Amino acid sequence: MRKQLIAGNWKMNGTIDETKTLLEGLLSGSFDSSKADMVVCPPFTALSYAGNLLKGSKIAVGAQDMSVHENGAYTAEISAGMLLTVGVSFVILGHSERRQYHAESNQMINAKAKVAIEAGLTPIICVGETLEDRESGNTETVIGQQIDGTLFEFSAELLNKSVIAYEPVWAIGTGKTATPEMAQDVHQFIRNRIAGIDKEAAEKIQILYGGSVKPDNAKSLLSQPDIDGALVGGAALKADDFLKIINSL
Ligand code: PGA
Repeated sequence: MRKQLIAGNWKMNGTIDETKTLLEGLLSGSFDSSKADMVVCPPFTALSYAGNLLKGSKIAVGAQDMSVHENGAYTAEISAGMLLTVGVSFVILGHSERRQYHAESNQMINAKAKVAIEAGLTPIICVGETLEDRESGNTETVIGQQIDGTLFEFSAELLNKSVIAYEPVWAIGTGKTATPEMAQDVHQFIRNRIAGIDKEAAEKIQILYGGSVKPDNAKSLLSQPDIDGALVGGAALKADDFLKIINSL
């Protein structure tokens, strides 16, 4: 049985005051950590604060991106090592907003994922098709390329230290969710593709669904056999909603 993982991608939201309110809200609630782990991914400026506040709690901290470089003349970049020093243990890589607005390629995401794992962080590697891809019947082609590219030269060992997130671009922040069946189909496709690298690792790897996950649709999505958790945007900004999602398991 794969354990579920519920991750909150705060995107560019969360001043220190807002982070305090949201995290205190989460800490005052409860969830069954034998069923699921919880991760919050605030913006860089709130990571240190979140790391301190959540130390010793059941809630882990993730970053939303990181540099492929270790250190040096890379203005505005943040390294894996820096993230570790403020209590970060996860990092989202290749989110569609990074791919779209910052031209992140599968190759770059692959390189970052290897650096993250080497440093001791768990990458949450994102893939997802656009509406155009889906409507032209290219979902599996695109997802297949993204999986092959982002997991290029991954061994079973690296797969065992990674998480995948399937986020159809057309479902992100739009209120449109893939039906549980549509999502399950792609999750199964991804798991089969990963089985081409290593069968055992494919059975173990967590594949999260993301795209307008809310308290009222979480249960039907999370009960699909190949959906092992959620990457939540909008609904992760309200403690009550995020707790309802993890408690819908
Ligand atoms: P959403 O975002 O839940 O607001 O659709 C999900 C994401 O982009 O990770």
